[in-house]
Amino acid sequence: MTVLMRFSGGFGGGAVLNARNFLTESDAFTQAQEAAFFASIRLRNGTYKTTDHHRLDDLNRLVIDEWRKLGSKPSQIMDVGVSSGISSVEWADALTCAGIEATILATDLCMRGSLVRLLPGYEVLLDRDGKVLQHIVANRPVRWYLNGPRDFLKGTGFVVAALNTLAGVLLPLTNMREGRKDVLLVNPHARDDARLTFAEDDILAPNAAHLRGRFNAIRVSNLLNHGYFNEAQLRGAVGNLRDRLVGAGSFLIVNRTLANGTNHGTLFRLNGANRFETVAKLREGSEIESIVLSA
Ligand SMILES: C[S@@+](CC[C@H](N)C(=O)[O-])C[C@H]1O[C@@H](n2cnc3c(N)ncnc32)[C@H](O)[C@@H]1O
Repeated sequence: MTVLMRFSGGFGGGAVLNARNFLTESDAFTQAQEAAFFASIRLRNGTYKTTDHHRLDDLNRLVIDEWRKLGSKPSQIMDVGVSSGISSVEWADALTCAGIEATILATDLCMRGSLVRLLPGYEVLLDRDGKVLQHIVANRPVRWYLNGPRDFLKGTGFVVAALNTLAGVLLPLTNMREGRKDVLLVNPHARDDARLTFAEDDILAPNAAHLRGRFNAIRVSNLLNHGYFNEAQLRGAVGNLRDRLVGAGSFLIVNRTLANGTNHGTLFRLNGANRFETVAKLREGSEIESIVLSA
């Protein structure tokens, strides 16, 4: 992943988006620039906001084909860990084309950040806990996390460490209310789509009452992975997801996109005993299938 990102001067095809550009340039960036921006954002829990346009097209086809065979038309859908929300819009489009009128609640742990200016030419994007998600130095985005000792061989590690220290010193001295700008970390088209609503949500935390027993189908893609969470956390998240479903006949979709771009997902359905059963698989299926089936 690119670290100290290139900026070609002026916002154009060669530029790499930072959080300020994302706020101010709205529709002026390309899909590739948007994808690179989200891939560069790593949250404090170790997950990345990586996503892309048309990433889940084959998963959408599989799910819609299965629902067509079953005669199912879920109307209340939840998409968990949506990042930019672009795959939620694309899912809504695919559902509309298939004659399924659904509203989608798209959620993410980190849906908005705050841009704070610390020095002339130096801003930071903060999460809701006030932790740095991105440094912006003279328009160049710089990550907050280290990628191991290799980083120091290339020199980047020293830049990252120095900026983390500088932000740690300057943030307590900064008047956070003045000049602070909220950044909705959602694709501009997704924001304006009437079929979608957005909310912040932690799938590992106890369920809010208004989410329980509400959805006919829930998708979670590229979040419930062994690489991100341990078994107990994955079991807790699956329990929360089941609790958000309306009951027997409702669906859970769990997917992971590998580095080569292939999707591996499973469509599950809740049975009368409130246990998940496998309806269909895309390629190898979900890597947490055994956890879901034993939940
Ligand atoms: C890799 S992205 C996946 C985006 C999209 N679903 C896709 O498949 O392209 C993972 C997303 O999960 C969000 N996330 C991380 N931890 C979360 C949690 N505990 N609860 C809900 N969302 C979380 C991250 O902010 C990030 O946007």
